[in-house]
Amino acid sequence: MAILVTGGAGYIGSHTCVELLNRGDEVIIIDNLVNSKVEAVRRVEKITGKKVKFYENDLLDRAAVEKIFEENKIDVVIHFAGLKAVGESVSIPLRYYHNNITSTLILCEVMAKYGCKKIVFSSSATVYGMSNKAPFSEDMPVGGTTNPYGTTKLMIEQILRDLYISDNEWSIVLLRYFNPIGAHPCGLIGEDPNGIPNNLLPYVARVAAGKLPIVHVFGNDYDTPDGTGVRDYIHVCDLADGHLKAVDKAMSCTGVNTYNLGTGNGYSVLDVIKAFSKACGKDVPYQIDPRRPGDIGTCYADASKAKRELGWEAKYNLDDMCAHSWNFTKNNPNGL
Ligand code: NAD
Ligand code: UFG
Repeated sequence: MAILVTGGAGYIGSHTCVELLNRGDEVIIIDNLVNSKVEAVRRVEKITGKKVKFYENDLLDRAAVEKIFEENKIDVVIHFAGLKAVGESVSIPLRYYHNNITSTLILCEVMAKYGCKKIVFSSSATVYGMSNKAPFSEDMPVGGTTNPYGTTKLMIEQILRDLYISDNEWSIVLLRYFNPIGAHPCGLIGEDPNGIPNNLLPYVARVAAGKLPIVHVFGNDYDTPDGTGVRDYIHVCDLADGHLKAVDKAMSCTGVNTYNLGTGNGYSVLDVIKAFSKACGKDVPYQIDPRRPGDIGTCYADASKAKRELGWEAKYNLDDMCAHSWNFTKNNPNGL
């Protein structure tokens, strides 16, 4: 099967490409490297011993996207490409709406033109907004996102649903990720954000590596067991595996299917710092700071639908996630 992976040089995309290649799929990547490095693609090839066809192009460049469909007979698309920094999306909303939404429109138009109507889309638990109560299940109302990034996910989900209504030949799988962390166990690929990390795990990893002085814990007055925010952390390789099941689903039927990809377990910020300290063999220092605007106290998945319908469930635990993340950080002190 030939799979076009948009954003395949990125964190989740690169791990998914490894799993696709390992099971014998043909992988074609389009990525403009705005938040990744070509080295990630080389390492995917190194891990798997297989070749990837890599197009360094922007999805906003319609002619470039058409050329890829012209040159390859694509069976299905996994659409990871997008900008994802929550805070940055508040400062430059138009860039986020244009990059994430316009690129999806172009991609779908070109797909339809070339008769490829199967897509797996990277959505997010952020679409559950502020008013639902965890565990979040796929049938809950979505909306009330607190930043333009989250709103792009909400809008793209709606666009894809409307697309299916207009043309029932489409097969669309919407995957709502919870909090992907960790790295491939071999330590060759992992999360490598530019600048100071926004997310907890890469921040903790940099403090553990001595590159940042201390972890700032955003609030300890939430209604959670230790007062710090609770999230559903999921190993990126488990998440990657979920995409293989989602591709199989997309190939087997038409319609719009939505799945949470999470473990169903919630861990607090302090749980994560403790698990990471164990993984790296030293105490990771932290201080309690005020809440971060837009954060909710508790977010974790009802993961039963993916298990029931896709036969998928997460296998790694929090200790594995931290151990693999530290392994990547230790082996790649200057990133990829
Ligand atoms: P990432 O930034 O590592 O990967 C995204 C990739 O898309 C990057 O390699 C980037 O260069 C590329 N890209 C962005 N805009 C592009 C464009 N216009 N044309 C071509 N390439 C473009 O992010 P990730 O963590 O791997 O996330 C993948 C997807 O999953 C994103 O859509 C993200 O919003 C979504 N998601 C991520 C998380 C998370 O916590 N990591 C959670 C929920 C959803
Ligand atoms: N946190 C800290 N200190 C930090 C960073 C985070 O205490 O330096 C806390 C947050 O307050 C939160 C938890 O750690 O309680 C997790 O925060 P992240 O920023 O790592 O992740 P979020 O849950 O805020 O958001 C992530 C992605 C979003 C995605 C969402 C749901 O960044 O894109 O998960 O999938 F939408």
